[in-house]
Amino acid sequence: MSDTSNRPVLVVDFGAQYAQLIARRVREAQVYSEVVPHTATVSEILDKNPLAIVLSGGPSSVYEENAPQVDPKLFETGVPVFGICYGFQAMARALGGAVEQTGTREYGRTDLSVPTEGGALHQELPANHPVWMSHGDAVTKAPEGFTVTATSEGAPVAAFENRERRFAGVQYHPEVHHSPHGQEVLRRFLHEIAGIRPQWTTSSIVDEQVTRIREQIGDGKAICGLSGGVDSAVAAALVQRAIGDRLTCVFVDHGLLRSGERAQVERDYVAATGIRLVTVDARERFLNALAGVTDPEEKRKIIGREFIRVFEQAERDLKAEGDYKFLVQGTLYPDVVESGGGAGTANIKSHHNVGGLPDDLQFELVEPLRALFKDEVRRVGTELGLPETIVQRQPFPGPGLGIRIIGEVTQDRLDTLRQADAIAREELTLAGLDRQIWQCPVVLLADVRSVGVQGDGRTYGHPIVLRPVSSEDAMTADWTRLPYEVLERISTRITNEVAEVNRVVLDVTSKPPGTIEWE
Ligand code: XMP
Repeated sequence: MSDTSNRPVLVVDFGAQYAQLIARRVREAQVYSEVVPHTATVSEILDKNPLAIVLSGGPSSVYEENAPQVDPKLFETGVPVFGICYGFQAMARALGGAVEQTGTREYGRTDLSVPTEGGALHQELPANHPVWMSHGDAVTKAPEGFTVTATSEGAPVAAFENRERRFAGVQYHPEVHHSPHGQEVLRRFLHEIAGIRPQWTTSSIVDEQVTRIREQIGDGKAICGLSGGVDSAVAAALVQRAIGDRLTCVFVDHGLLRSGERAQVERDYVAATGIRLVTVDARERFLNALAGVTDPEEKRKIIGREFIRVFEQAERDLKAEGDYKFLVQGTLYPDVVESGGGAGTANIKSHHNVGGLPDDLQFELVEPLRALFKDEVRRVGTELGLPETIVQRQPFPGPGLGIRIIGEVTQDRLDTLRQADAIAREELTLAGLDRQIWQCPVVLLADVRSVGVQGDGRTYGHPIVLRPVSSEDAMTADWTRLPYEVLERISTRITNEVAEVNRVVLDVTSKPPGTIEWE
């Protein structure tokens, strides 16, 4: 690894949700990136020793009251700068170009024209190609010393560059998929204009994190709670790579897991990593605590509370046997950015998204995924040799099947749901649909019965609901249009193979108004 691989490209966030996406695209060009708020001063920016700066999109007009501006001193630091959309206009203005309300707004797919002299950014791209625009104002005059390298109907200056100063910008959004050459343009800025060498690779991430973890933990000992999900699994595997047996993982079986999950952790994960694992079998404890409870919020509270108690006890047991000072957590970069950015801002997350750590257990946190996006975490997992079943895992709620049984949670009902869920998952995987769907909760309506007929007999069984959804981030979702043949296979198998279930129904509600989980 060369000495520049740690230096970031800083994406200045002007507050329109594009910054994280831009940061991901920069990393796809194999250059490390970080998001900073637009309130960061030039000296704070320079403290990070950036390889380049990207000014992101933002509010609609640089003339708006309180619109964030770019400090012109930024352009005297010698650091290469790339402006995007609002950042492009703010840059034009700060460098003495002109931004005006031309009256021609462009939103959505727009045709970009590239003159013969396409400059470094657009050279050899098609003379006309689509880009994604979203602007009211437009740059009407490029700053002195800049070449205009693209135009559109509403943006006489749709891109400009000054190679000598290593500055460039585009009016459109290169980071979105609707700009099919956008990634190439961003790549050209980074590699060709800014002259950055692409060094941010999965193996460099692993090397760097392992070194950092060793520095942090020294010869100490660490604990990590495994949930069965991707983040904790990858975080633990990285720490294990760094400190070996001085890491102990704790996996709580609360009995609300899906079929095969415990084995995936106890057998497959351990085989792949050699990790030291303690499983706590708390199935009975959870069932007892949940007895008679039907209210979903109350269920969540009970599951959260019991989980923490069990985990705490495991921590105490381990502390009694050795000096465990460190707690590993799978905090990801988006959590860090969303909780305010800088070092140490993300507080201790609960082990399970369902509670917090008590104050009397003092640990120093180890967060090896703090700089990473989810797709990078998956790639690191693969690089570390983790099983696909864990690395490509779809999201699954911490409270598990407990919130997918509508009604009281009992052992029999858990068994019924587990069987139905296993069938649905198996068929979706066989049909090659795993990447297409975000997740497919399978829900047991335990308090509902309806009449059916099987063989010669009348049945009075429960319905199972299939809830396949497509989503980007689970904030909004649409129901996935699964092929009828797949639905048919799932329905036939569940009604044939799972006792007590005589009906399978499909949830065709988007989110909003429906949530993904039924609860
Ligand atoms: P909803 O039902 O709110 O779910 O549309 C959005 C996403 O969050 C997941 N989910 C959880 N994940 N702990 C988690 O780790 C939880 O308590 C929890 N509750 C819901 C849900 O599966 C979906 O992906």
